[in-house]
Amino acid sequence: MAYVLIVPFASWPDAPFVPTGAKYYEKIVEALGLKSGERFYDLGCGHAGLLIYSAQKRGTLGIGYEMFFWPRLLAQSNAMLRRTAVNICSQNLLSADLSDADAIYCYLSPLLMKQVEDNLLAKMKSGSRVLSRSFPLPSRKPDRVWSEKASADKFYLYYF
Ligand SMILES: C[S@@+](CC[C@H](N)C(=O)[O-])C[C@H]1O[C@@H](n2cnc3c(N)ncnc32)[C@H](O)[C@@H]1O
Repeated sequence: MAYVLIVPFASWPDAPFVPTGAKYYEKIVEALGLKSGERFYDLGCGHAGLLIYSAQKRGTLGIGYEMFFWPRLLAQSNAMLRRTAVNICSQNLLSADLSDADAIYCYLSPLLMKQVEDNLLAKMKSGSRVLSRSFPLPSRKPDRVWSEKASADKFYLYYF
């Protein structure tokens, strides 16, 4: 189901609001091996469609970081209307405390990935998983890489 009802176009110097298509959601939650009760973060969650899907299908607890007003309003409205276990934080994703994360998804920009990687390496617990769409972590070798037929974009999976 498409979660994009209204997508106000907006862009920022570091990572624009370009949502991951709903057609990828199942593949993403499968690749991350998400289980009920796990804490699933989306760093720069946009309208939070992936977190809501995962909460509904897998019973995960979603935490979305979204610093910008319009996508955050969409995320908060979507989560509230669907009554899912998804919380939206209005902070910079670079200052996120990820120490309790079981899995993380991000679809950002090359400009942010070095700082994201530093934060992940400092805070991620053993056994957690990270999936980044399009932009790999600069220093770490991914455990798995794949691309979808409908998209030239690659997905990079890391086990911590
Ligand atoms: C490419 S979109 C991805 C949205 C969502 N993760 C998805 O895949 O559907 C990137 C999102 O990150 C947000 N963002 C960019 N920089 C951010 C920052 N420093 N802190 C929090 N959110 C940020 C943008 O507002 C945008 O909604």
